[in-house]
Amino acid sequence: MKTIIANYKMHCTMRESGALARGTLRALPADASNLHVVVCPSFPSLRDVRKIVAKTPIDLGAQNVSSMPNGAMTGEVSAAQLKDAGCAFVLVGHSERRTQLGETDAMIKCKMEQVLHVGMTPVLCVGETKEQHDRGDGAKTVIAQIVAALDGVVVPRSERIVVAYEPAWAIGREAAAVSDVVAMHREIRRAVRNVCGAERDVAVLYGGAVDEKNVQEFLREQEIDGVLVGGASVVLHEFVLLLNAAMATTQTQSV
Ligand code: PGA
Repeated sequence: MKTIIANYKMHCTMRESGALARGTLRALPADASNLHVVVCPSFPSLRDVRKIVAKTPIDLGAQNVSSMPNGAMTGEVSAAQLKDAGCAFVLVGHSERRTQLGETDAMIKCKMEQVLHVGMTPVLCVGETKEQHDRGDGAKTVIAQIVAALDGVVVPRSERIVVAYEPAWAIGREAAAVSDVVAMHREIRRAVRNVCGAERDVAVLYGGAVDEKNVQEFLREQEIDGVLVGGASVVLHEFVLLLNAAMATTQTQSV
């Protein structure tokens, strides 16, 4: 089973998000059991998209969550509110939030706790910047982000720990080399198990310029449990091609 998460970012109106979700649903045959799709519209569209994906195999996710549980926090949206809105997944610590919106490791850890506390699944996003990559500090950076987000956090035994490796330099630009991604995913899996326990079920997704042309290269790898897709998820015909390519890969793998 491979996971595909569509991250609409701040691109879509409610009507556009609904059309994307409807088109995604239409593109998935009822027996697409090797593919798990999660769509993450922005907050105002959650309600409409929920209506479309409710009682379907597509899950609803949010792009962000408050690090606080409730109270006088103008403009924030809590984990409990997202759960109430129908979300099962929440992206936590996306690099755009880390690098452009001042999200710190401490905030990210609190967000992980909030999401887990209400019974949703956090998708912990990690990844190095271009400078860290060029210095050869990619793995060191990513491991430090994992330790900061998970150390001391109680993750229920039954919970699959989902991490998305998204090198900031690849997002919206050019995808990382598959062999480098595979090597990083091994490091990530090891780091998560060091922190959370050797027997933990860990899924590691790749994100960064994934499209219909390269998705198969990534999904073919056993170390890559899925992909997080930004730009190519908000153009319906591109996303449908991507889903078709992904389905073709997972079908080949299951026979
Ligand atoms: P991209 O974005 O597919 O446009 O590179 C991925 C992401 O930031 O989640």
